[in-house]
This record gives sequence, C-alpha cells and structure tokens, in this order.
Amino acid sequence: MEPFRLHIYACDQKKAEGAPSCSANGSAQTMEALRREIAKQGLAADVQVTTCGSLGLCTRGPNMVVYPEGVWYSGVHPGDVEEIVREHLAGGRVVSRLLSGEGPAVREEIDGNRKRMLASLKARDEAGMLPDDLQQTVNGFRESRTVLTAIELDVFSSVAAGATADSVAHKLGTSPRATESLLNALVAIGLLEKEKDVFIDGPVARRYLVAGAEHDARAAIMHTVHLWPRWSTLTECVRKGTAVTRGRQDERPDEWTEAFIAAMHRNAAVRAPQVVQAVGLDGVRSVLDLGGGSGAYSIAFAQAGDGVTAEVLDLASVVPITQRHIDEAGLTGRVTTRVGDLHDETYGSGYDLVFISAICHMNSPDENRAMLATAYSALAPAGRVVIQDFILDADKTGPKTGALFALNMLVGTRAGSSYSEEEYGSWLSEAGFRDVRRIRLPGPTALVIAGRP
Ligand SMILES: C[S@@+](CC[C@H](N)C(=O)[O-])C[C@H]1O[C@@H](n2cnc3c(N)ncnc32)[C@H](O)[C@@H]1O
Repeated sequence: MEPFRLHIYACDQKKAEGAPSCSANGSAQTMEALRREIAKQGLAADVQVTTCGSLGLCTRGPNMVVYPEGVWYSGVHPGDVEEIVREHLAGGRVVSRLLSGEGPAVREEIDGNRKRMLASLKARDEAGMLPDDLQQTVNGFRESRTVLTAIELDVFSSVAAGATADSVAHKLGTSPRATESLLNALVAIGLLEKEKDVFIDGPVARRYLVAGAEHDARAAIMHTVHLWPRWSTLTECVRKGTAVTRGRQDERPDEWTEAFIAAMHRNAAVRAPQVVQAVGLDGVRSVLDLGGGSGAYSIAFAQAGDGVTAEVLDLASVVPITQRHIDEAGLTGRVTTRVGDLHDETYGSGYDLVFISAICHMNSPDENRAMLATAYSALAPAGRVVIQDFILDADKTGPKTGALFALNMLVGTRAGSSYSEEEYGSWLSEAGFRDVRRIRLPGPTALVIAGRP
C-alpha cells in the first residue's frame, strides 16, 4: 500500500544560465506555494511533494506529475496552485487547462528534447567547455563579493519596503550608477525584487539582512567581510607557509572583535544545547570554557544543570562581550569570566570539565600538545576534556568544510589548521588522557572527549 494517497513529483532542475529549465521558469516559487496551499487546505497528511530532476518538458516548466493517476501538468505558476490543490488534490477533478498534453505527443516532445540535450552536451564536450560546476566554482567569488558589499554598505536596510537606486545612493553616499548595478545584481541573486524602477527587499533579506530583523545576521556576516582581504593573500600564504597579513587578535579594532564574536555566537547559540546533551552532565559541577567567546556553551551548561557553574577564559578585548551575553541570559555570578591566555602555563585546578570549542584550529600541533597538557592539570581526577572542532578524516581531504577551513587558518594564523581524529587522539594520550572517543553531531564540527584517570 502507498504511504500517501497522492504523490507529486515536481521538477526543480537547474541548468546552465540561458538553458530552459523548470527552475529558470520559477519552480522554486511554485513549489513553495504548493507546499503552503496543501497545508492550508488540510491535505499535508495525504499528499507528498517530492522535487525531482528533469521530466523532459524543459521549455514548458514548471512541470509536475501527480501519481498514482500519472497526470502531467505544465506551466504551473504560483497563481495556478490553489486551483490544482482544490480541484485535483482535494476534489479528484483534473485541471484540464494545465495538462501537459496527450501521452504520445508528450512522449514525442520528451524524446526530441532529450536528443537535443544529448547533442548539445556532446558538442560542449568536444569543444572542451568547462563543466558548469567548475565554471561556477571559478566565478563563485562574484556572488559572494556582491552580497558582502551589500552588507558592508547596509544596502538591505536602505532598500527596505521600496526605494529607487537614486534614493539608496543618496542615503548611502554612493555613486547612483554603481548603486543601480549593485541593486540589479542583488535582484539577479534573488535577495531583492524590482518593480519598475523600485527595489524591494525579498523575504530572505527581510528576515536576515536588515536592521531590526528578528534574525539579523549582519554583524556575523561582517566577520566574513573582514576575512576577504586575508583570503586574497592565499597564493602568497601557500608560497610562504604561513599567514602574511596576520595581526594579533587582541590588537584588532573593536568592530572586528564584535563581528567575530557575533559570528561565533550565531553558530554556538544553536549548537550549544545539542553539545551539552551529547556530553551529558554526569559528574559535572564546574566547567572551564577555554576561549569561550560569547559564552554560549557555558550558558548552555549552566542552564542544563541547576548546580553547574562555568568560567569563560578569554582575551581582555572579548570578556566584556561575554559578560553582556551572560547578563542577558540572567546567569550573572553562575557563569563568570576571566581574562587569560590559552598559552598560559596554568588554567587553575579542580574543574570537572574543560571545554575547548573552535580553539585547536588556531594553534600549531605543539601549541595544542601544550594546551591539552595544561587542561589535564586543570581537571579534577575523573574530569573530562571536550574538544569541539572541524575534525578531518585520516587523509585530511574531508569533510569539505574542514578541509577548506584549514586554508582559512593558513591565511589568518601563524600555524593553525584543521586536524584529524588521529592527531587529536595522539595529543590527548601524550597529555595523559584515557578513553578518547569521537562523537559525531549534525553539522560540520564534531566532538572529541577524553577523561583524566
Ligand atoms: C573561534 S572563537 C571560539 C569561541 C567559542 N569557544 C565558540 O566555540 O563559540 C576563538 C576564541 O578564542 C579566543 N582566543 C583567541 N586567542 C586567545 C588567547 N591567546 N587566549 C585566550 N583566548 C583566545 C577568541 O577571543 C575567541 O573567543
């Protein structure tokens, strides 16, 4: 028996720019409208929508097929969705004006399209054209830079519910001609919409990229803006083997530090409850959070257990930001801060847990050996150390985020990198830890936990 009364396969295929496809014809908007309408008309438990690759009618998309009847619809736009859901999905009556056509004619069209597509692929291959995904990777910086510049200028807050390029340029003090090009590109990327000569923030921009938005991510994205100049030195860093634009973190301007900690906090606040659950609070009364940043993890440990206290050790430039987060969480006194240095010879003693999140990648292997030995001395007997980081596979080629992050450390630190599980295991054993184990969590980072006998 089928698990759903009806199953819709809706094409969402993306093709090279200029080639006809359902996605170029707006399948994403149709799909969103379809899912919303199915829920609105109370059919979510009856109808499953699955996005799929080409149905072969690319010039006439967005296309979809409704099973078990096998009814093919073409040219379905958001304005058609309510009728399909009401008439067909709820009422069992086919919407004939949207049908793709008679079976044999549709089959002939699909065969013709397939032949043309194969011929075009063969011609491209013979001409030695770059594959689309490689071309996209090579030019990926253009989209990234466009969005980063928009954030740097705070374009989305200026555009808001509607503004012309001239008025945005006037507000920002930028060139009207260049501002118009930037705004047009942001429409092409999908972050702005345009009606006549008026630009409007799209839904994603409204949610994340404007002043006062509930999920305002501008400060965190500014951290990526700050990383851009470093990444431009990658070639030189590969030649020299170390960062060439490095400056000490505690010498950077306040604005840099605010953006850095905001970026860390956005991830940490979401991840912290999962991490605390995976680590557990067995035997944990006191936590030392080395380089704890915003304090998100310490706050989560304290929130998870009534008697748990935590101390965040970080640089003098960061601790006031940490304190702000602790106060906002209502944990003043139970989560405390300490100005200190990871390279100090002691962190104190008697802690049940030393938590080291997103720290080891800043260090060289020798610095990590020294830091873990100091962490060992800071623990009470039977205490645990928990490391969270990008943990690479043994050959260091994946996961991809971790392999690329090694380059982020190359361009930004003297000797930092992403490290493998084997490397963490050997440093921990050398420091005296036992029972080293890795815990995989959803997302790009993992945990390595070990105990002090
Ligand atoms: C990548 S952030 C991680 C923050 C936090 N642990 C997290 O996972 O969200 C690195 C942290 O280490 C701190 N840090 C960097 N160098 C340090 C040092 N020498 N001593 C103490 N803290 C340091 C930074 O200020 C920052 O808060």
